[in-house]
Amino acid sequence: MNPQRKLLVVLVLLLTAVVAHAQATITKTSFGKTSADENVDLYTLRNVNGVEAKIANYGGIVVSLKVPDRNGKFDDVVLGFKDFEGYLKNDPYFGALIGRYGNRIAKGRFTLNGVEYKLAVNNGENHLHGGIKGFDKVVWTGSENKTKAGPAVVLTYLSKDGEEGYPGNLQVRVVYTLTNNNELKIDYSATTDKDTVINLTHHSYFNLAGEGNGDILNHLLTINANRFVPTDAGSIPTGELRSVAGTPFDFLKPTAIGARINQDDEQLKSGNGYDHTFVINGRPGTLRLAATASEPASGRVMQVWTTEPGVQFYTGNFLNGTLTGKSGKVYQRRFGFCLETQHFPDSPNHPSFPTTTLKKGATYKSTTIYKFSHKR
Ligand code: GLA
Repeated sequence: MNPQRKLLVVLVLLLTAVVAHAQATITKTSFGKTSADENVDLYTLRNVNGVEAKIANYGGIVVSLKVPDRNGKFDDVVLGFKDFEGYLKNDPYFGALIGRYGNRIAKGRFTLNGVEYKLAVNNGENHLHGGIKGFDKVVWTGSENKTKAGPAVVLTYLSKDGEEGYPGNLQVRVVYTLTNNNELKIDYSATTDKDTVINLTHHSYFNLAGEGNGDILNHLLTINANRFVPTDAGSIPTGELRSVAGTPFDFLKPTAIGARINQDDEQLKSGNGYDHTFVINGRPGTLRLAATASEPASGRVMQVWTTEPGVQFYTGNFLNGTLTGKSGKVYQRRFGFCLETQHFPDSPNHPSFPTTTLKKGATYKSTTIYKFSHKR
């Protein structure tokens, strides 16, 4: 082949690669079967920049999320298991949708319209993350949607009246969109036929150095919150919204997650590290920046935007080296962190907190965006 022809061939190949790369795609494959023989699908979403998310209709679990570092190298930045079987007993809630109620409800009890409801108790004497079989452990109905913003997967689930003790048939819809701006956008909505309570969230564990690549203590974190929600020994809010000023909870300026995590602080001790809701500054209901995390070596940056009043910052304190991740690396303590956007824990028992009551006929709506970029 003469050199000119060779050059032409190389150019054509390059161009084909660029065009193929620049197309947003969504595909569906089988992920496995539940013990009740329900089929579970895995959706692979790819945006025009080659960012890729794999999402299962079991638990709405984000199984992997590959984003570039400062050199264009893609790594999977969420913790997870190698195959579906790993998720059947997903104790740490890796990547899952959480409902009906994210975080705890004290003693699994609350009163609404004069009626006391008793929920499943699955965390000491308390109710955690929707109970024994929360939204993280059910099969949702999935469908694909190619939107202008990017590929999306629509998940719906009908939570029946009385499920895990909650009142009302709750029809839930969650849309995950992988936008062409490198955002994983989550739009939640729900309606009920009887007054109920609701607090949906998402429970990915992030490690911006890549899953399994060490702990997250060097990540720099900013949380746009002047106050946080102190808790008692059972991680139930005391009711106070405390100023972060002068405490290890002040993340108003970028600070390493590990800088103060072992300080002799009563809240850090009872939480085993950070496991607290921060009260996001600004008006709930409007999309605002809740937090920014960055990892110095890769340069990866993640911003979290939300309409929720709070964000639960959890530092993977209960990971203990007993779980092996998808690429064979063992997950040690603090190998991932969560930023779970939500209402405050135990709100149904704290009338002073923003309400989590969803009235019959009303529509619950909430949006959270995890936006990825990198520093030069
Ligand atoms: C939340 C809770 C934690 C823990 C994790 C999952 O962040 O607040 O206490 O349950 O989920 O292990």
